[in-house]
Amino acid sequence: MKIVSISEDKKFEKRIAVTPDVAKKYINLGFELSLPENYGAHLGINDNVFKDVGVIILKDEKELINNSDLIIQLGLLADEKLSLIKEGQSIVGIFNPYNNKEKIENLIKKKINLFSLELLPRITRAQSMDILSSQANLAGYKAVIESFAKFEKAIPMMMTAAGTIPAAKVLVVGAGVAGLQAIATAKRMGAIVFATDVRMTSKEQVESLGGKFLTVEGAENLETEGGYAKEASEDFKKKQEELLSETLKKIDIVICTALIPGKKAPVIIKENMINVMQAGSVIYDLAAIQGGNTAFTEVDKIIDKGGVRIIGETNILNKLPISASSLYAKNVFNFVVNLYDKENKKININLEDEIIEKTLIK
Ligand code: NAI
Repeated sequence: MKIVSISEDKKFEKRIAVTPDVAKKYINLGFELSLPENYGAHLGINDNVFKDVGVIILKDEKELINNSDLIIQLGLLADEKLSLIKEGQSIVGIFNPYNNKEKIENLIKKKINLFSLELLPRITRAQSMDILSSQANLAGYKAVIESFAKFEKAIPMMMTAAGTIPAAKVLVVGAGVAGLQAIATAKRMGAIVFATDVRMTSKEQVESLGGKFLTVEGAENLETEGGYAKEASEDFKKKQEELLSETLKKIDIVICTALIPGKKAPVIIKENMINVMQAGSVIYDLAAIQGGNTAFTEVDKIIDKGGVRIIGETNILNKLPISASSLYAKNVFNFVVNLYDKENKKININLEDEIIEKTLIK
């Protein structure tokens, strides 16, 4: 089976889908793996590192695509590259089917198999393929680092002969994968951490990391059977607003991570709440690209509201692309192994396998 990966547009995506370590694993399994020249050069990985593990390096991307059974990517390729893909070929990546409807429909019409990994079921067998978790984990960590770097006071409490600096207070909104890593990171740096979520199961997880869970009193548990959040009712939103308005008066840094799958991110931090925050506070909104959890978030901008800075970025993972690529490439490798039929040496689209059925866009 012939596997390739094409260079992404590095302005928007610095991660790579095949790292040298993972390339070796594909080759050990008997796959032929080809990559374009300079595939990892921007991450300090030159072509020879790939060649040394047996990767074929080609100049011409058209030739690469033509000679492949399976194309491994991060996002959807540019139109001129997509148009080279033919019937029967398969692509694996994160294709955001809700936002790329038209492009995806065209590919499906051409009978190209598209496997979009954000659609993976959160079942035990799929854990090693779970790109949402691996990438959210890093995003949660990096959001804390980025916001702490912008914050102009110290984070841990410091008792000195010249007086005491109090510990910074952090609020994490949404205690899923990214939120829990944000709590752990902020705690490690000496902050006092609060967190809130609509799913009551997250309370115990927050507390086990040393965070203080803010419970919206009298509200129902908004969790689906699959473990995701449900959209909050008006009653919940009102109670949550009251709780957060009070809390935010004493918070220095807010990390927003709240998402509802397939929907626009809920606006949780409203204008009146930002107004009560102290000047110098920082909000890092990881939900920016899905619309943002604050009333003012704008992608790739720092918005200043009365001295409160609100940060949102298109892709925070571009700030740690080596770590993000390392985990992503392993996730994809595990997915491909599950897709591969060893006996017949080809992809086996077995729709009885929940992992394959859920990720294949139909
Ligand atoms: P996500 O990225 O979809 O959402 C982030 C967090 O925001 C969630 O905890 C959600 O409950 C919360 N949220 C949504 N609306 C909110 C609101 N209005 N106010 C406050 N918080 C709000 O979620 P993520 O991180 O992907 O995790 C979702 C679930 O999946 C969790 O239960 C997690 O434990 C589970 N999971 C299971 C895995 C498995 O393999 N079994 C792997 C990874 C996650």
